[in-house]
Amino acid sequence: MPAVTTSRLHDPAVRGFASDNAAGAHPEVLAALAAANDGHVGSYGADPYTAALADVVRRHFGPQAQVHPVLSGTGANVVALQALTRRWEAVACARGAHVDDDEGGAPEHVGGIKLVGLPAVDGKVTPDDLEAAAVRAAAPMRAPLGAVSLTQSTELGTCYTPEETAALTRRAHDLGLRVHLDGARLVNAAVALGCDLRALTTDAGVDVVSLGATKNGALLADAVVVCRPGTAEGLERLRKQSLQLASKTRFVAAQLLALLDGDLWRTSAAHANAMAARLAAAVADVPGVRITRPVQVNAVFAVLPAPARARLQERFAFHLWDATTGEVRWMTAFDTRDEDVDRFAAAVAAECAQDTGARAGAA
Ligand SMILES: Cc1ncc(COP(=O)(O)O)c(C=O)c1O
Repeated sequence: MPAVTTSRLHDPAVRGFASDNAAGAHPEVLAALAAANDGHVGSYGADPYTAALADVVRRHFGPQAQVHPVLSGTGANVVALQALTRRWEAVACARGAHVDDDEGGAPEHVGGIKLVGLPAVDGKVTPDDLEAAAVRAAAPMRAPLGAVSLTQSTELGTCYTPEETAALTRRAHDLGLRVHLDGARLVNAAVALGCDLRALTTDAGVDVVSLGATKNGALLADAVVVCRPGTAEGLERLRKQSLQLASKTRFVAAQLLALLDGDLWRTSAAHANAMAARLAAAVADVPGVRITRPVQVNAVFAVLPAPARARLQERFAFHLWDATTGEVRWMTAFDTRDEDVDRFAAAVAAECAQDTGARAGAA
């Protein structure tokens, strides 16, 4: 029997709908890692892969852009937000933003940053609500805002258009705030909106981006991209201090290069988005199912009868997003297949039919 360390401990045929984080790495990313192996190169980013990545990132984000590879999306956010704010300043973000709800308090704990939640509809905040929060926060007993963090695509699978982003960055800059974009799924938004990455970031006035790659098919790689140099003071030092500078950064850069140098970022995100659209179309008319958010990227949010949901969760991985409303999130990835979606949609129809008395349809 082979040693456990060289055996598969999971069924590679299984694909659920819990998260794009549940997917493996894209084979081209693994090939890029193998190609970057062997021999000695400079450490901590002084290597040819990181240098090549700097060129590629300038191509995507504009000639001023600077890239700092990191190990996780949370790491990118924490490093970026520290660099964008002074030590007494707070950061506004949508209520329910990943940075506030799902990062274990890392911005507060590691960065010492207070977060201020803004009202959000389908995950999106407005310039007026940002301004109201900035005015409130300016009172002497409060923590003044230093920056706003937007999420693109949002936690609820929606996108800010370039115009919406520009309106927010204009207001933020007028208020003296800097703008961070949590782009864990920026690539999905760019594909959905038919934009390049620059249109949603540099050209829309964003200062610093947390650029996600892991959810797009990397093994373990994200980056902080500074779109407007001079806005993120000390970022290099903060990356090390916040445990996000890998000694073998060549492997982080190689993953990012595999996705961003050619079209892999786009084809992978387009596929993930298309799988969510396929799922939404297949369940939209199932009695008992109601899709609750616009389906723009690779997530479908829905409510369905609680018993059907429970039975489905015994067979398929997905998250109950909101226990009070029963809203679920079904997320697709670069490696979701048509047949995975079709099998799941048929199961949704069959389980809902049991609870609603409807005949399982042709989902
Ligand atoms: C919107 C968003 N931002 C940031 C992150 C953080 O990424 P990580 O889990 O790699 O720290 C996630 C992870 O799911 C996310 O969904």
